[in-house]
Amino acid sequence: MKVTLDIGRFNPESPGPRPYRQEFTLEVENYFTVLDALIRIREYEDPTLAVRCSCRASICGSCAMRINGHAGLGCKTKIISVIKDGRVRVDPAGNLPTVKDLVVDMKPFWDKVRAVEPYLQPEGPEPVDEYLAPEAAMLHLVGVMGCIMCGACLSDCTVLEVDERFLGPAALAKAYRFVADPRDGATLKRLKQYNGEGGLWDCTRCMECVQVCPKGVAPMDRIIAMRDRAITAGLHGTNGARHAEAFADIVKHNGRLDEIRLVPRSYGIFNVMNLGAMLAAIPVGIRAWRHGKLPPVIPHKLSERQNVRRIFDKVEGRK
Ligand code: SF4
Ligand code: SF4
Ligand code: FES
Repeated sequence: MKVTLDIGRFNPESPGPRPYRQEFTLEVENYFTVLDALIRIREYEDPTLAVRCSCRASICGSCAMRINGHAGLGCKTKIISVIKDGRVRVDPAGNLPTVKDLVVDMKPFWDKVRAVEPYLQPEGPEPVDEYLAPEAAMLHLVGVMGCIMCGACLSDCTVLEVDERFLGPAALAKAYRFVADPRDGATLKRLKQYNGEGGLWDCTRCMECVQVCPKGVAPMDRIIAMRDRAITAGLHGTNGARHAEAFADIVKHNGRLDEIRLVPRSYGIFNVMNLGAMLAAIPVGIRAWRHGKLPPVIPHKLSERQNVRRIFDKVEGRK
């Protein structure tokens, strides 16, 4: 099988370095991965091509890159599964500075992981033998412990594209690993920390991290689980928590969403700290009104809203 690899390249040592694209056409076997093809290019066509890899078996997390626009492991992605019209597009991972060609600087990734304090913080005196945890509680964490720190999720996180302060999917999944560990004694402290700016509530639930993670860690699900835990722990004072509570409350009472009331309730009606953000929402409202998208000022209520309430009652365990 013939394939053309269209590679996004960057050489910091060239004068006035700029990203550029270069194509290589080569013969590959059906079992070739994208990484196999890149190594073949480096060995036989262009020894200057920079690509990072080690295990070649989806274990070390070194070879995350964008393949046809989505992050994945080069060593796990077979050419045959991504080839389109004889071509595969390869780029360095996103949301991280490129060092050279397909090699990115992982420092921002590790800074975020370090920021969540990714180590056990037990409370009380040290046990004589060892810390014991119920098997079921640890089995539940096996999925999240499968993270190989490849950065694929961070590469494609849509929030990080616009806000580098966001802790991001990998770090928050790692945070969950300790929040949900029965041996950890710092749960509330952790939840307070992750509840702030750039934390739990900044995720837009776009699902990208779930889709691209090569190990099924499902970072977004861990973020949602920590949001639940934060609210259950009484941490209501954030725009995100208020938004989630107001959203549910409005749907429960009207049977449908009422965006006009959702905005002030999310920011906190008497919260002067958010006055600027609320005023900034006014032009958005005006644009929505101009395009006929503004919801009615007197909220529409579903005639069968008692059915919606019954769903809430059931979920909340009242009936
Ligand atoms: S679901 Fe959230 S954390 Fe995951 S990629 Fe989207 S915005 Fe980022
Ligand atoms: S959560 Fe998945 S995609 Fe993100 S770093 Fe871990 S293994 Fe890679
Ligand atoms: S080379 Fe180790 S994960 Fe791809």
